[in-house]
Amino acid sequence: MPEPEPSFFTRHQFLIYRLFSLSGLVPVGAFLIVHLVTNASVLAGPGTFQSRVDMIHSLGPLLVPIEWAFIFLPMLFHATVGFVIIAGGLPNVGSYPYVGNVRYTLQRATGMIAFAFIIWHVLQLHWMGAPLGGGKFDPHHASSSAAVALQPVGVAILYAIGILSAVFHFANGLWTLGITWGLWTSPGAMRRANWISVAVGILLGAAGLGALGGMRRLDIEQAKVIENRMDDVKRMLEGQAPASEPAVRVPAAAPARPVSAPVSSAGR
Ligand code: HEM
Repeated sequence: MPEPEPSFFTRHQFLIYRLFSLSGLVPVGAFLIVHLVTNASVLAGPGTFQSRVDMIHSLGPLLVPIEWAFIFLPMLFHATVGFVIIAGGLPNVGSYPYVGNVRYTLQRATGMIAFAFIIWHVLQLHWMGAPLGGGKFDPHHASSSAAVALQPVGVAILYAIGILSAVFHFANGLWTLGITWGLWTSPGAMRRANWISVAVGILLGAAGLGALGGMRRLDIEQAKVIENRMDDVKRMLEGQAPASEPAVRVPAAAPARPVSAPVSSAGR
């Protein structure tokens, strides 16, 4: 009987695995770092976070194609190949010394948890989720809208699990990536690289949980006042009328004194 044709994945496994591995670092891993650090800027106040968000949204109509090209499509590619690997459809071409141990299993488990979390997170906050009742993030009220969405304790717990899973997956993935690409081959180099992964994991985990805690502890009303003021300034610079009521009403100016009116010298 003739041998069955090898699958597409088996025929191109080397290239697919390299692209999968690379996509975990750039752009997906790089985006994870930028995203968590940007969100952690809320710890410096809602105004700081708002200006980071304004910077991103100043991309205007370019934002959507950039999001798809550098975030969503690479992530979908990485996740699809990840699921194929987990299902055993692509032989694991990286030969890891820890095969069978806890980290190997956790890498796969956290990949799947991160996948579920990212889908939920995007639907909940990104405008694409609006038709499904999500899309809660308002880029003009960045901190206050995120803070409202993150208030329920159940949501905060799921976020903490999702963030820590994505961070573990990336930090541990950095180490396995170095093995895939032959960057660390001796046991000593692997041990040193391991410490780098641990440090990256701790720093990113702190940024992610810091962002979550910072958003939840925010004074939402005060954040709205700051965001409204910033929005009004932006509108003014663009020649538009302010969108919000002024937070502090300035009393109407007293009618100007006619130039010819006599000036009393009393009290001078
Ligand atoms: C937060 C987004 C993600 C980032 C930053 C990321 C990053 C990485 C990195 C850097 C690696 C190491 C690649 C290597 O060893 O050469 C990796 C491995 C892996 N990723 Fe992801 N990943 C993410 C999401 C996902 C998702 C959603 C899945 C879907 C299940 C997934 C499944 C996997 C699997 C199965 C491996 C291990 C492959 C193996 O053992 O050979 N990842 N990831």
